[in-house]
Amino acid sequence: MNSVGYILAIESSCDETSAAVLCNDRVLSNIIATQKIHEKYGGVVPELASRAHQQNIVPVVDQALKEAGIAQDQLTAIAYTQGPGLMGALHVGSSFAKSMAMALGIPTIPVHHMRAHIMAHFIRESDHQQVPSFPFLCLTVSGGHTQIVLVRSALDLEVVGETIDDAAGEALDKAAKVMGLPYPGGPHIDRLGALGDAHKYRFTFPQISGFNYSFSGLKTNLLYFLREKQAEDTSFIERELTNICASYQHVVTEYLLARYEAAALKHGVTQLALAGGVSANSVLRAKLAALCESRGWQSFIPPFSYCTDNAAMIGICGYQQWLAGHRGNLSDAPKASWSLV
Ligand code: KG4
Ligand code: ZN
Repeated sequence: MNSVGYILAIESSCDETSAAVLCNDRVLSNIIATQKIHEKYGGVVPELASRAHQQNIVPVVDQALKEAGIAQDQLTAIAYTQGPGLMGALHVGSSFAKSMAMALGIPTIPVHHMRAHIMAHFIRESDHQQVPSFPFLCLTVSGGHTQIVLVRSALDLEVVGETIDDAAGEALDKAAKVMGLPYPGGPHIDRLGALGDAHKYRFTFPQISGFNYSFSGLKTNLLYFLREKQAEDTSFIERELTNICASYQHVVTEYLLARYEAAALKHGVTQLALAGGVSANSVLRAKLAALCESRGWQSFIPPFSYCTDNAAMIGICGYQQWLAGHRGNLSDAPKASWSLV
């Protein structure tokens, strides 16, 4: 009864054009075209993202089908990202998905991008793979979102904490930009931080109630610190880059996990998952694993390729929605902002 067949999935919410083919919960192909054009602007330029999606979408879908060895007429449904994301970028993927589904006479499955990040844990890579069992907590950390989500079932989610301003990824990307690193800065901070001393400089946690976060204060804290140091020594950033990256990454990850641990204790949940692009961060991954080990909890972190934006996660989320009876229709419109629940 858990069989859907072949699902084509399309992701185009930001600056990755991606298509995947799944056979139920297994990924047969997952093609990702990352738009390099944004690097020179230090952030995603929405108009350029839409244009690049238009250029990439046909070849990326073609390649996904080819790599999976699946013909168009074997597809059961097309899942696509309906939101949240950049409106123009979402339009490209959703219009393509709906047109192709109409031409093939098959249904669409519109998917919420952040739900898909969480559901990436259920992509089946092997028969012995451990997946979280319900209920579990998921810390979703991406360029646009930071939330602690209580996952009661694939379709029953509750946000128990979230950022009141910037997302964790944004805090890393903006800090990297101030230090002159390319966009997106998160992976560069990760790489450079591994070479530095995480305890050399101290930045303090913003105090926010409950299990919520605030990252804008932390970013400003870094900005003022750098201004002061640069005024004394213009080569400070250059000289101390690895130590600054390590120290800043240290406070961001400690802050994320301190609240996450408190939320787990409050909700009596012992399975802790990570999702979203920032879950590719090596320090965050290692610290979550260490925290869970020390408390006798279980941690779940998807493989790198399913952490940052990809269509395979859209496919697995579409698969679960299909089993629950969800189908889209041709009047479904993209949603630039769309709350998780
Ligand atoms: O989920 P994602 O690919 O796109 C959004 O939905 O936002 O997340 C992108 C974010 C960016 O902020 C990027 O800097 C961050 O994920 N990121 C990382 C790493 N890889 C990606 N941050 C820290 N360390 C990494 N290794
Ligand atoms: Zn994402």
